[in-house]
Amino acid sequence: MAVNIVKPALPDEYLVDNRVYTDEQVFRQEQEKIFYRVWNFVCHESDIARPGDYLTTHAAGQPVIICRNAQGKINAFYNTCRHRAAQVVRDEHGKANVFTCLYHLWTYDLDGNLVRVPEIEAYKTNDSPEGLKKEDFGLIAVRVQSIHRMVFVSFDEDAPSLADYLGDVAERFRHPFGSTDLKVWVVRRQLLKANWKMQPENSRDGAGGHGGRRRGRIRARASGAELHRH
Ligand code: FES
Repeated sequence: MAVNIVKPALPDEYLVDNRVYTDEQVFRQEQEKIFYRVWNFVCHESDIARPGDYLTTHAAGQPVIICRNAQGKINAFYNTCRHRAAQVVRDEHGKANVFTCLYHLWTYDLDGNLVRVPEIEAYKTNDSPEGLKKEDFGLIAVRVQSIHRMVFVSFDEDAPSLADYLGDVAERFRHPFGSTDLKVWVVRRQLLKANWKMQPENSRDGAGGHGGRRRGRIRARASGAELHRH
């Protein structure tokens, strides 16, 4: 049944084109032109406090591993095996010395180096007498930087540094997120079956009672050294 919608008698700038919420093409362009190019928040440093700690998540729709290597450095990689592109790490978080892909057991260290390939000799052929060079097949690194202990990743090699990208906004993270006493205490997740803009737009809607129901996307209590992520 055709629906005849009469355009309200308002200037165009008062109206929202609904395709920004429903059109797959618009969404893809947002991924490409915004989220692949900016710095995406992934975790607090306390989420991966010790060497070997890791977590997996998605940023801009891409699966990533965030981990601390043996020296305490934070690394990020696409969570995609260099063999046949299986998901390497399936747990949401944990502690490990290496990551082993369950499909054919290729194994990577915490710096993304490919360190073990079962039956690697089988890759030697007449055309390729040297066989598979492990150094050519490490996990693909993703840019990762922290500011005041908030960890972000970017998929754009040409993006400015995180500090330049955030500018003055970074200062707002210093208290309490930058405190060494602060750690993630509980994580609550909510899956909204809606376009990503619906939640932030409604959170910022000053009209009516919305503000009261949606207090603080990130609430922190510095004195108790607790961070709640909602
Ligand atoms: S796809 Fe990972 S080892 Fe084969």
